[in-house]
Amino acid sequence: MSAPLDKQELLSRLEPFDQHQLLDWWDDLTDEGKVRLAGQIAALDLPLIDSLYRGKLDQPDWAELARRAEPPPAVRLAQRKQASRGELGATPDEARQRGIESLRAGKLGVVLTAGGQGTRLGFGLPKSLYAIGPISSASLLQIHIEKIRALARRYDVAVPLYLMTSPATHDDTVGFLAENQHFGLDPADLVVFCQGTMPAVDVETGKLLLADRDRLFLSPDGHGGLVAALKNSGAFEHMRQRGIEHLFYLQVDNPLVPIGDAELIGYHLSAQSELTSLAIAKQQPHERLGNFMMIDGRLHVVEYSDLPDDVAELRNKSGDLKFWAGSIAVHIFDRLLFERSASQQGSLPFHIARKKVPYLDTKGNKVKPQKPNALKFEKFVFDLLPEAKRPIVVEYAERDCFAPLKNAPGAAKDTEQYVQQLMLAQHRRWLEAAGAHLTPNAKVEISPLFALDAAELPERIEPGQEFNEPVYLR
Ligand code: UD1
Repeated sequence: MSAPLDKQELLSRLEPFDQHQLLDWWDDLTDEGKVRLAGQIAALDLPLIDSLYRGKLDQPDWAELARRAEPPPAVRLAQRKQASRGELGATPDEARQRGIESLRAGKLGVVLTAGGQGTRLGFGLPKSLYAIGPISSASLLQIHIEKIRALARRYDVAVPLYLMTSPATHDDTVGFLAENQHFGLDPADLVVFCQGTMPAVDVETGKLLLADRDRLFLSPDGHGGLVAALKNSGAFEHMRQRGIEHLFYLQVDNPLVPIGDAELIGYHLSAQSELTSLAIAKQQPHERLGNFMMIDGRLHVVEYSDLPDDVAELRNKSGDLKFWAGSIAVHIFDRLLFERSASQQGSLPFHIARKKVPYLDTKGNKVKPQKPNALKFEKFVFDLLPEAKRPIVVEYAERDCFAPLKNAPGAAKDTEQYVQQLMLAQHRRWLEAAGAHLTPNAKVEISPLFALDAAELPERIEPGQEFNEPVYLR
């Protein structure tokens, strides 16, 4: 159905919500401009935006909820190291075996979200294109795809990648993949799909903001937009045809993610969990991580910005943080959980954030605000946790799984330099465990196609092999 191009008809849609300002420049627009704006207006869910603005769709009182929370059901790192069978039913070896069986049966797909705008990083292109490899200059996307190829090779199966972009990142990402022959991934195993967008409204008035005379300000609808985007793109159909039952979920900014880790998958299966999350133990109460918390019998991620200080600082008798489990945004989802959620209207809540949004003022001037002027609406994928049956978290050591690229140079953490240091340190540990000798200054980067993890490395290097200069093992 094409959008109406009749001004009166558009006005009759907008006026009940007091949004007729969107047509202030209508008479001056080209035909192309009219088609664009009318299409964007037709796609708006005006009652939803109106009620979000008026706060009718209540935002939870996280402080109050957090005060009655308990720590999540978890497999802790100490227990994994001691090889003990915890409350969740499997030893690490048993879990790994189950994971391997499931991988060999070809039941795993990978979901990678790469739709965010990476504002903090200040890089003009999508983050997935960022050349992060310390020696290789491989992009984040190349590293993730090589891990997926290495996984497929190890288990002799196809591991399809479902890659989510947004209108802000889609064309650049698709172009980059094509230029690089999809980094060797079979195009039949790659589904690229675009997430939806949401408009922004003025904080004071609730009026929708224009980016220009012929277009709304629109931004990606949050990584929770994944659920609808999987459905609308036909990705579920692709998964069903391939017999994919579990999806390993990651976000593009972290090159240390142990994609397809058999032990993690095995715990997911042993606990008959629909959603298993990888957790790291927080070192400080106020780390900038989401917090896994059981609230009224359901698992939630409570963002660091919503967690009150008194709860963040609670400690148990041994002096450890009570709410220890930080989210690094790595999960295993059952396909059926995604499908169930996608079939329910409005199943994930919107989170509302105050942001600086450039806009066209009533005189037609473009304004770049200095302080937050607008509300943006985003869905978060981890809000599926409370909908999941038997969700669990599994603790991994931070240095083995988490080095996100978030900030421009100069920040204390999560910069290019920080990420590269952690990558090199991990590869050094793997090499030394495999019997190699590295001089203190030797920098060795390992392509996932050379060795996917520490266990694969002894097959690839000689015991006692020396490394004394920068090398990229590929
Ligand atoms: C996020 C998590 C936080 C977690 C941390 C770990 C949220 C709200 N918080 O914080 O709990 O501890 O990561 O690194 O997610 N993305 C999209 N589409 C969107 C928005 C984001 O695909 O519309 C993707 C981005 O490309 C990126 C990822 O989601 O890969 C993370 O988004 P970001 O806004 O950077 O989240 P953080 O605030 O870093």
